[in-house]
Amino acid sequence: LKFGLLALLVLALAVAAAGCGGSEPPKEEAKEPGGDQGQTGKKLVVGSDTTFAPFEFTDAATGKYIGFDVELIEAVAKEAGYELDFRSMAFDGLIPALQTSQIDAAISSITITDERKQVVNFTDPYYKSGLIVAVQAKNDDIKSFDDLKGKKIAVQSGTTGAKMAEKIPEAKITYFTNTDQALMELKNGAVDAVINDYPVSAYFVKQGNDDVKLVGDILSAEEYGIAVPKDKTEVLENLNAALKTLKENGEYATIYKKWFGEEPK
Ligand code: ARG
Repeated sequence: LKFGLLALLVLALAVAAAGCGGSEPPKEEAKEPGGDQGQTGKKLVVGSDTTFAPFEFTDAATGKYIGFDVELIEAVAKEAGYELDFRSMAFDGLIPALQTSQIDAAISSITITDERKQVVNFTDPYYKSGLIVAVQAKNDDIKSFDDLKGKKIAVQSGTTGAKMAEKIPEAKITYFTNTDQALMELKNGAVDAVINDYPVSAYFVKQGNDDVKLVGDILSAEEYGIAVPKDKTEVLENLNAALKTLKENGEYATIYKKWFGEEPK
C-alpha cells in the first residue's frame, strides 16, 4: 500500500509539472541575472550604494533614486537595449555581488583601481574625481592631509577614502556603511575629519552644512567607471558602446550639465 501511494504521488507530481509547462511561462526565470549576456530587451541588474549625492541618492520628495549615475545608467541601459533593474545595496557589498553574479553591473561612483581590476572589469571612465579632507568649519588646526597624524577620521568602508586614511600614522579610523553617517559624525564632533570623494563632500557642504569645510588640495586623481563581472564580456562591450554613443550624441553632456552645472571635463 505504501508503495502504491508513493507511485500515485509521483504520478500526480509528474502530471502537475507537465501541466505547468503548457501555456503559462514559469513565474521566476531560473537563469541568473543577465545570463543571456544582454540581448535587446533583456534585463540588466545594476547595484548601487544610493547614499552618495549628487551621484546616487534618494529624492526626499518622491522616494525615487536620482543623481548623475542614476540618470547615466538609465540612458546607457536604454541605449544598449536593456530593461534596467536598479538595486540599492551597501558599497562594500558591490564587488562581492559582482563576483558572485548577483548583479550584472555596478554604478556607484566606483573609482577604477588596479586592485579592483584584478576582480572585476570596468567600462571606460565617465567621471574625473579625487579625494578631499573635510573638517568642522571652526577647526583651524587641520589645514591639510599632513595635519591628520593621530587624528580621529571617519570614512566609508571599502572606499578609496578609507584606503587613504589607512596611510596616516596613528590615525583612529571609524568605518561607516554610508558616507552620510561619516559626515554626520564629523558634524557632531565625534571625529576630526572625513576623507571622501571631493564632489560628494563639496555637495554636502553646499546643502546647507556650513558647519563643515573642505581643506587642502585634492589628494588623488581618480576616475569612475561602471564595474562588470569578469565573465560578462558582452555586457561590458554593450555598456562601453552605449557610453560612447551618449558621449558622441551629447546626451552624456546634457546629464553632466544638469548635475554639475558645467561641461564635462
Ligand atoms: N570613489 C570612491 C571609491 O570608489 C567612493 C565611492 C563610494 N560610492 C558610493 N556610492 N558610496 O572607493
